[in-house]
Amino acid sequence: MTDQANPPAVKKLFIKTYGCQMNVYDSQRMAEAMGAEGYVLTEDQAQADMVLLNTCHIREKAAEKLYSDLGRLKPLKAERPDLKIGVAGCVAQAEGEEIVRRMPLVDLVVGPQTYHRLPAMVRGEAPAILTDFPSEDKFDHLPQRRATRRAPAAFLTVQEGCDKFCAFCVVPYTRGAEVSRPVDRILREARDLVERGVREITLLGQNVNGWHGAGTDGDWGFGRLIRALARIPGLDRIRYTTSHPNDMSDDLIDAHRDIPQLMPYLHLPVQSGSDRILRAMNRKHTAAEYLRLIDRIRAARPDILLTSDFIVGFPGETDQDHADTLRLVAEVGFGTAFSFKYSPRPGTPAYDRPEVDGAVADQRLQELQALLTKQQKAAQEGMVGRRLGVLFEKPGRQAGQMIGKSDYLHSVFVEAPDAQVGDLVQVRIVESASNSLRGELAA
Ligand code: 5AD
Ligand code: SF4
Repeated sequence: MTDQANPPAVKKLFIKTYGCQMNVYDSQRMAEAMGAEGYVLTEDQAQADMVLLNTCHIREKAAEKLYSDLGRLKPLKAERPDLKIGVAGCVAQAEGEEIVRRMPLVDLVVGPQTYHRLPAMVRGEAPAILTDFPSEDKFDHLPQRRATRRAPAAFLTVQEGCDKFCAFCVVPYTRGAEVSRPVDRILREARDLVERGVREITLLGQNVNGWHGAGTDGDWGFGRLIRALARIPGLDRIRYTTSHPNDMSDDLIDAHRDIPQLMPYLHLPVQSGSDRILRAMNRKHTAAEYLRLIDRIRAARPDILLTSDFIVGFPGETDQDHADTLRLVAEVGFGTAFSFKYSPRPGTPAYDRPEVDGAVADQRLQELQALLTKQQKAAQEGMVGRRLGVLFEKPGRQAGQMIGKSDYLHSVFVEAPDAQVGDLVQVRIVESASNSLRGELAA
């Protein structure tokens, strides 16, 4: 019972999330943990009692953005010295105390493995800088997901960390070794989400398809987990991200053939199409092995839409290596893909290797992006005339319009005056725009 005479003071929390979907999930969980302390989320930073920046360290620009955002907070902190400023996420993990040294206005620094202790840190009952890798499962210490109706699509973290040690990547250092959450916890959280109105769950992990756990009958792989989730009534759509090619097991590929709830969409980063560069990156597979894998996935689910990540200008990359990447892209035909210019990350094996000339790397990035944009356009235009499922996630700006995601994860705008958020409807696609589709309700 609440004490009517003395209600807990409501404080406002502003969270800015940088980077990946895992951070979006983490920000939601931190908001829930702080909710138990009387904090409610605000969209207005100027009104906040606490500002939390949930950071990303994957490329240089992400950390720079943090420092410039912190610089911009100086006047607000000067005006209201009791404003709490916290830095969470992978920059917090990588830089630790350095952040407070560089930006003394920061009150709290919390790494991705310790954010369940954020409330204690805010109360002053835990150190102000926490970046260790505790043996306890942080998810055990977080409150149950909130008992309110939720948006129809949600994230659920099933795995964290990475043991792959790609030569360019900070994740094994900032997120630590691979840890899989146990089956029963995942199923419980999924059921809980479905009870709150969720119809689509995206399973998250830095190396999500490397997930494994003790099931009811021995060790389960990720395909088996998906089969168990597909038995939850009301869970209409399942997705997952991000995967490593070497962990695409036969069972997971079969799940794409057998499980109608598993959406025909797969993000499978390859990074480069050159065997020399793949070896230098420590990716542990060749371009031909990736292509064979794609063939097997397409044999299981012919309509699957594939997306990927690429790095151009990795140390030692020649024109021939770049041409090999373009050839691989041409051969696969991606629905869309992210491509990045290589950014040396301190502490990673590739950090000290001689860099490719910046202008050359820029030119290669442009070439690759032009090809990927063409493929994205072709994939979207291929949807026109098709009848697809669309899950409405929010109303559009125009009256009577709804915006949702198709099975293939394209945003679709639909005229649907009688529809509600959370409806899963059949739509005929009538037009492809630059980054979205337009559809009409199918009879
Ligand atoms: N430089 C550029 N891109 C990187 N990525 C990871 N580390 C780096 C880096 N040092 C990209 C990879 C990865 C995606 C999440 O970010 O393509 O798949
Ligand atoms: Fe980083 Fe992904 Fe490689 Fe792991 S598999 S080291 S997260 S790029």
